[in-house]
Amino acid sequence: MIVNKPPMGWNSWNTFAKDINEELILKTADVFIESGLKDAGYEYVVIDDIWALKERDEKGRLVPDPEKFPHGMKYIADYIHSKGLKFGMYSCAGYYTCAGYPGSFDYEWIDAATFAEWEIDFLKYDFCFHPTCINADVLYKRMALALANCGRDILFSACSWGAENTRHWIKETGAHMWRSTQDIFDSWESIKTLALKEAPLQEYNGRGCFNDMDMLVVGMYGKGNVGLTGCTDVEYRTHFSLWAMLNSPLMIGCDIRNMSDAAKAILTNKEVIAINQDPLCAQPFYINNTKWEINTERKPEDPFYKNLPDEVLLMAKYLDGGDIALGIFNFSDGKASRWHQAVLPDLLGLPAISGKVLEATELWSGETIRSRCGVLDIPDTEPHDCKLYRVKVVG
Ligand code: GLA
Repeated sequence: MIVNKPPMGWNSWNTFAKDINEELILKTADVFIESGLKDAGYEYVVIDDIWALKERDEKGRLVPDPEKFPHGMKYIADYIHSKGLKFGMYSCAGYYTCAGYPGSFDYEWIDAATFAEWEIDFLKYDFCFHPTCINADVLYKRMALALANCGRDILFSACSWGAENTRHWIKETGAHMWRSTQDIFDSWESIKTLALKEAPLQEYNGRGCFNDMDMLVVGMYGKGNVGLTGCTDVEYRTHFSLWAMLNSPLMIGCDIRNMSDAAKAILTNKEVIAINQDPLCAQPFYINNTKWEINTERKPEDPFYKNLPDEVLLMAKYLDGGDIALGIFNFSDGKASRWHQAVLPDLLGLPAISGKVLEATELWSGETIRSRCGVLDIPDTEPHDCKLYRVKVVG
């Protein structure tokens, strides 16, 4: 099985944790259709931890908790498939899952066969309570091989949080995505931390095996299992734009049955999703657009720059067909001014001598700007806000 684009879907953990059941999952599948999420590209409905009983059955098989899932998992798979969607489940490379339910260690082949029998399409595979006498890569190879031989295409979503240098060996396993960062929480600090940790890991990301920055917190507003303080809609928009630019899987984590209009608009912005799902899957790069490069007359210590925020990340990514995605991310608590954000076309690979200019359309506001006198002058960006442009070379 080959996965060519970052997977998109929904996962139960961020909001529901242990409070999952058949009714919730079936309703969530319905909402995929009713709310336009399916049309926007979301596909996988994934049940995370705490779905099983604490004991396996007499044949060593995992048993869905009958109170939560009275008709079993094949029933859920059939329902989800009937909606044209795909079904995902969760297990762990250790003796136990992170919440203390049976893990798949030494049961890999039994569990892969069970998952295939239930007709799942996606397996998230965690890393808690694993034996330390076996290398992490071997633990993931064990399940990868069992899945590859189970007779069904099952997307393998490795979740070892980047531990034990996952980036160096994860592609050996054939995994289709791998958690490159720690768990997300519903706070601006968490979004910022994950994005900045992810930034240097892009050389490991790419088509076939995507760096997974964890499930989205867009629309949680502090509710649910990873609640914390919650974020503003502006922060959620920045969060979604970052995940889109960094080619991360887009797995929704809020309760989509009760989505706010703002959250829905963020999660279904088709132009932003297209930046994430671009077929080229090119590696994003950072534009070393420091203050003194924009105006060589002024040095960083110049009073002109006093109070200007330093934490403004400029990121670009080539898109299939010749366009360029350009993201301006203001991580600071102050306004980012045009001097922080001016983009020299040369840094995007466009020399002045070409005679071409850049035409950039911002994908949240629809506003278009053009480079003039050799600079793409970006309007001010508010604290924690971002701008995400699709840039065309014109003229
Ligand atoms: C780990 C994972 C989370 C979630 C929980 C479930 O913390 O990183 O995404 O799956 O386990 O217990």
